Amino acid sequence: MSAPGLIPSTGVFRFAARTRHLQPSAIREILKVAESPEVISFAGGLPAPDLFPVTEIAEAAAAVLREAGPAALQYGVSEGHPVLREWIVGHLARTLGLACRTDQVLVVQGSQQGLDLVAKVLIDPGDLILTENPAYLGALQAFRAYEAQVVGLESDAEGLLPEALEHWLRTQSVRPKLLYLTPNFQNPTGTCLAAERRRAVVALAAQHGLPVLEDDPYGALRYSGAPAPALATLAEAGGCLYLGTFSKVLAPGLRVAWLVTPDRALHEKLVTAKQAADLHTSTFTQRVVTAAVRPPGFLDAHVGRLIATYRQRRDAMIAALERHFPSGCTWTRPDGGLFLWVTVPPSLDTQSLLPAALAAGVAYVPGAPFWVDRPVHNTLRLNFSHATPERIETGIRRLGAVLHAALG
Ligand SMILES: Cc1ncc(COP(=O)(O)O)c(C=O)c1O
Repeated sequence: MSAPGLIPSTGVFRFAARTRHLQPSAIREILKVAESPEVISFAGGLPAPDLFPVTEIAEAAAAVLREAGPAALQYGVSEGHPVLREWIVGHLARTLGLACRTDQVLVVQGSQQGLDLVAKVLIDPGDLILTENPAYLGALQAFRAYEAQVVGLESDAEGLLPEALEHWLRTQSVRPKLLYLTPNFQNPTGTCLAAERRRAVVALAAQHGLPVLEDDPYGALRYSGAPAPALATLAEAGGCLYLGTFSKVLAPGLRVAWLVTPDRALHEKLVTAKQAADLHTSTFTQRVVTAAVRPPGFLDAHVGRLIATYRQRRDAMIAALERHFPSGCTWTRPDGGLFLWVTVPPSLDTQSLLPAALAAGVAYVPGAPFWVDRPVHNTLRLNFSHATPERIETGIRRLGAVLHAALG
């Protein structure tokens, strides 16, 4: 006999008007179906679990309990564990040449919380947020929950077109609240904002008093090509927030990330907004992360292993696409990150094709939800970090067969 559960009621709960804008993530819905072991899933943004540093995390957790004991289990300050914030300052200086102070760093529960908090303190209903197109779906979800109107600006294989930003800012009378960009190995396309465009974009933003939110979960995962400077490090930048995370370089289940804010008043608002949301990020987890990443050389060596494996998987996916996909399909060739982006012939709709793909034992994310306004239905996102090269070959062969069949 199943448990009775709570007594259902109808009409008792009257939702707030803004919940109209809360849409379930298309990805999370697909992930539920793709969980079956027969399905090779390229749908989630999942890091490879076999590379999680389980031993190091276990040792760090034991050391934290041994050395800090009850303090590791007590409530903490909303800004974050001070030692972790100091480590983040040193890490950003060393890896990006980004100079910031500890009191500018807010530890957040995943960069997703950073996106939510920024929208919470900046956005009134109807306010505009500019972004690249297509854009990270989780950011669109977070921004729309606060009733932002998101505008997708023209972008190509080298990221947002500065001319498109310049044209928009010159011709529209409304002043947007924010420009949101993922300059490195963007989700969903895997492309980077070209170095010269970074300068042009931050200069335009500064000139128009437009704050920039730089979301950088993938910058450390580079497999080829040369890095371009972080937007927040550019001399032209003014009012640039930087969002980093341990999700892709350590493990996403830890839910530890950080937001660097140049402006004191904004930082204080964000801290207060975080207090209202969750008081603070888990004290214990923050200390475990600190203990794991502090030994010199650990993170570099670990990221080095991720890079070696993901590079191989990216190459395996590109080779498999070349072998199995019909002519008329094109894809990005990312220098890093976790995703590549495919355009199939315009006669195909990747949302309608998904059931056939799942039946054939392969999952992907249709591209439509990533488009900010007018969806392009013949696009799709593939994750290459999670499956082994052998499963990548099999999965892409299956998907190629589905596309061949659909094209007749
Ligand atoms: C561009 C981008 N921003 C933010 C996130 C959220 O990451 P986190 O695990 O740090 O919340 C993701 C996750 O896939 C992402 O792709």
